[in-house]
Amino acid sequence: MYDDLIRRIKLEVSPKAIVLDIGTGTGEIPLRISSDVSRIEAVDCSAEMIRRAQDKAIQRGAKNVTFRVQDSTLLPYGSCEFDVVILANLLHVVPMPERVLAEAFRVLRQDGKLIAPTFVHGESPKTRLISWILRRKGHPIHTRFDSSTLKAFVEGHGFVVTQQVLLKNIMPVSFVAARRAPQPGGSAVD
Ligand SMILES: C[S@@+](CC[C@H](N)C(=O)[O-])C[C@H]1O[C@@H](n2cnc3c(N)ncnc32)[C@H](O)[C@@H]1O
Repeated sequence: MYDDLIRRIKLEVSPKAIVLDIGTGTGEIPLRISSDVSRIEAVDCSAEMIRRAQDKAIQRGAKNVTFRVQDSTLLPYGSCEFDVVILANLLHVVPMPERVLAEAFRVLRQDGKLIAPTFVHGESPKTRLISWILRRKGHPIHTRFDSSTLKAFVEGHGFVVTQQVLLKNIMPVSFVAARRAPQPGGSAVD
């Protein structure tokens, strides 16, 4: 499933793209797409995750990825800086996903792309049961999206979903790609 996820992300980026990966974990996604893009900033609120990501970057010789400890709701970037923003498996773990989406919207160029593959814990009775067990074991699950509530959530915060595919797994991932919705009275491109 993860290989499929990476393959789909690669299809959405271009060699000139400047990319932000929010909630990067140990940096597997930016490190695996680094040779397909120009430059990547990758942030996570966990210093331990970022330390592991930086070690992996050194081992793999990835020079165009910068890792930072940073909370997703207060990003140190200017508006419209990025061509692509990735939120992979983050929206369901944060208590205020609307604030993460608002920051993603702010830092994304008007014609940029949001890629938000998200575990959909609410997809079926089976996933809800597994999710309940995972949460009891301490997994940080805040919102049990299903495919339609995830799409509605993203579209309710200024984006238009351009692609949505369910990647099947014990816990499926809804692969979502979206663009910023046109601003009323604004041009499509900055
Ligand atoms: C399920 S992991 C996903 C890792 C990676 N994106 C992936 O798909 O392989 C979620 C990550 O989000 C990070 N995270 C949680 N809340 C965050 C926040 N408010 N700001 C930044 N990162 C956060 C966690 O530390 C964790 O590394």
